[in-house]
Amino acid sequence: APESMQEPYRLQFHFTPPTGWMNDPNGMVYHRGEYHLFYQHNPDSTVWGPMHWGHAVSKDMINWEHLPIALYPDSLGTIFSGSAVVDVQNSSGLGTKENPPMIAIYTYHNAALEQKGRDDFQTQGIAFSLDNGRNWTKYKNNPVLKNPGIRDFRDPKVSWYEEGQKWIMALAVKDHISFYSSKNLLDWKLESDFGADVGAHGGVWECPDLFKLPVKGTKEEKWVLLVNINPGAPNGGSGTQYFVGNFDGKRFEMDPQFAASLQRKPLVASTVNGQEGIWLDYGRDNYAGVTWANVPERDGRRLFLGWMSNWDYANVVPTEKWRSAMTIARTLELENTPAGLRVASMPVKELQNLYQQSYTFKTQPVTSTLSLTEQASFSTPTYDLQLELERLSPDGQFAIELSNDKDQKVLIGFDATRGQYYIDRRKAGSHTFSDNFGGIHYAPRLATGATFPLRLVVDVASVEVFADGGKTVLTDIFFPDEAFTNVRLIADKGSFNLASGKITSLRSIYAA
Ligand code: FRU
Repeated sequence: APESMQEPYRLQFHFTPPTGWMNDPNGMVYHRGEYHLFYQHNPDSTVWGPMHWGHAVSKDMINWEHLPIALYPDSLGTIFSGSAVVDVQNSSGLGTKENPPMIAIYTYHNAALEQKGRDDFQTQGIAFSLDNGRNWTKYKNNPVLKNPGIRDFRDPKVSWYEEGQKWIMALAVKDHISFYSSKNLLDWKLESDFGADVGAHGGVWECPDLFKLPVKGTKEEKWVLLVNINPGAPNGGSGTQYFVGNFDGKRFEMDPQFAASLQRKPLVASTVNGQEGIWLDYGRDNYAGVTWANVPERDGRRLFLGWMSNWDYANVVPTEKWRSAMTIARTLELENTPAGLRVASMPVKELQNLYQQSYTFKTQPVTSTLSLTEQASFSTPTYDLQLELERLSPDGQFAIELSNDKDQKVLIGFDATRGQYYIDRRKAGSHTFSDNFGGIHYAPRLATGATFPLRLVVDVASVEVFADGGKTVLTDIFFPDEAFTNVRLIADKGSFNLASGKITSLRSIYAA
């Protein structure tokens, strides 16, 4: 691996900026064999500052090629979050039918206006590229959407609404989502507002996404509206809630059953720590995630990726040259669960491109502690662990312990009394950088049954937990003094049967 990508805490198979600050993923669009990932970027510092769009491309959402910065601040402001589309029919006239333009739709943040005490400092602008995103030109009549006088007015996510042959923009406006429509990406009309009176409102609404998903196992389709919010997440700080319903080209309306499951109180199955809302990921470190545009229909997947950090401490985590990473790319599916319709996430199958050595565990009882890495007789800080644990008594509780030899550890477990999964990172390292970092993070279990299918994707300083086929997800980062290369399975109440299991080490994307 290049020396520069081997610093302490540098993730080895997740996307990280080579240097400088990164937050939200932006402009995710698939075009001509490449997945584009743009991101909120401050190239001159490792803390948030004047925002640019950094840029990278990938053929598999796992291995990335870094490209030059795509969008720089200009006289209208710095470049906040937004999306990108391929204007296939050249509705904008900014390209040709033979060479349809890629179009980025983003928020201008005008700090000078803000300092003057004005409220209209966030507007929406566009830029286009005629060479697969390598060079970008800002549209000459920006902004394309002016600000009506609302301080939080940002993060446009644009998609093509086939049924109505028009573009739809979902925009985060303080405490709700506004939907705009356009025939040409240049002129936008307000259609409706959603959400001021439902869902979680512990903070500002940001970074929405709107898309259709089939209901697994049926012929039905529903619309999903992702709404990022900061603060107000169930385990504190930033998080991604969502709503399931219908979108008719003008308005989004919640599915009545989904609405009922949202309002049931106490929401044993969907609330933790007394917070409202239904969440895509209950860990502390998955924020501002949205999905890729223009993925070919024959692929059929809805592909998601989020920023693996939290505004509670993002600016102070102990990395020196760069700050923060993206989650692994995930597929989203809509499933019927005992709690109602829920969005399940799983890592994309392309993660297999990094598979190296693997070990399959024998079926065996777990009565106290079992060292999985001793059995596998290899250890690595980067791996994919898949287990099926069968609980032999109803009060059974387990934990998977990732640890080093310095008595630091992260526990991923199930609390039978709460009926909730958790990640406990209280002892994951010294957390002197923030009082707000250590803690136990809980998530509802949305499956019933004595068998717990679990998948952990671990990369040096992060764990992504996909339980029950991705119906419950938790993503957390951690900063131990030495990598966690020991993995132990602990029956901390009752006993278990390890029905099946496999650990596979993952190659670094920087390996030659
Ligand atoms: C979300 C966010 C967006 C904004 C961007 C600024 O993390 O606050 O709402 O566009 O970050 O960097």
